Amino acid sequence: MNVLVTGGAGYIGSHVLKVLTAHGHSCVAYDNLGNGHAEAVGKAPLIRADLADGDALATVMRDHKIDLVVHLAGFIEAGESVVAPGKYFRNNTIIGMTLLEAMRTAAVQRLVFSSTAAVYGEPERIPIREDDRLDPINPYGSSKLCVEFMLRAYARAYGLGCVALRYFNVAGAAPDGEIGEDHNPETHLIPLVLQVPLGVREKVMIFGDDYDTPDGTCIRDYIHVMDLADAHRLAAEAIEPGTVKVFNLGNGEGFSVRQIIATCRTVTGRPIPAEPAPRRPGDPPRLVASAEKAMTQLGWRPNYCRISTIVQHAWNWHQTHPHGYTKA
Ligand code: UFG
Repeated sequence: MNVLVTGGAGYIGSHVLKVLTAHGHSCVAYDNLGNGHAEAVGKAPLIRADLADGDALATVMRDHKIDLVVHLAGFIEAGESVVAPGKYFRNNTIIGMTLLEAMRTAAVQRLVFSSTAAVYGEPERIPIREDDRLDPINPYGSSKLCVEFMLRAYARAYGLGCVALRYFNVAGAAPDGEIGEDHNPETHLIPLVLQVPLGVREKVMIFGDDYDTPDGTCIRDYIHVMDLADAHRLAAEAIEPGTVKVFNLGNGEGFSVRQIIATCRTVTGRPIPAEPAPRRPGDPPRLVASAEKAMTQLGWRPNYCRISTIVQHAWNWHQTHPHGYTKA
């Protein structure tokens, strides 16, 4: 298929491009490089443009005879979304609609949408299943859930075929060392912890150690970025006209912030000082996926389930790229 990957120069986008290309798809990356890196795109053509311009977007879809859009572009920080909600609704929700309209203009009928575990808010039960209550506690989750609702409306009205993938905590890097995570500023736990043994920061802050969890710190379900990327390939094949399918993507195992720091100490063999700090707004205490549906319906089989492997691949990447792509 001819695939347009929005946010293709980003962390997840670059790994999705790598997997889709390896499976014979012809990919085009669409990215304004606001947060992405041209170096991450590999051999796929990169169109440096903004998604806000729906006409330009539709033209690109027509020119490249796009069959499928994988929509990954967006802002992703739950904490930031609490203090800057407009930024999230504009960039994630309104631009989501611009994209859907451009797809309609260009008669592109297939979409894989990157959604998030944040749509669940504080879950009623663990592990979380796709039909559990949707009640985001931060604007980031709300901004993505709005798009999920739009997808259903577009599927019904125009026959759009869609898969929405609700990511849990994505981490790790391509095992071949070619690409990895490089956010600026970095806000995600694993890369921040690894900055300590890299000498980039002195210690890591633990955002809240008084949660109702066994060690008082937040629990998350970490998924390897290559396993996540592979699910996009399978999702593309599972699209059916006029339907929206929704899948969680996680490993079904929760790790606390303290457990992640301990794993990073073991993998790197270095002491990593950590210090409790106030809770970060918008953080649910515990998010763990049931990914049973993705396994049974998509045939998804994660290859890198162990947290030590996920951290090891991240560590390999950060050691060779201590300041990311540009200053490697
Ligand atoms: N944390 C710290 N110290 C840090 C950074 C993070 O204690 O320096 C904690 C956070 O408070 C949270 C946990 O580590 O409890 C994980 O935080 P991340 O920022 O790595 O990830 P989030 O869980 O906030 O969010 C990520 C993605 C979202 C996605 C969500 C789904 O960034 O896009 O996972 O679970 F929606």
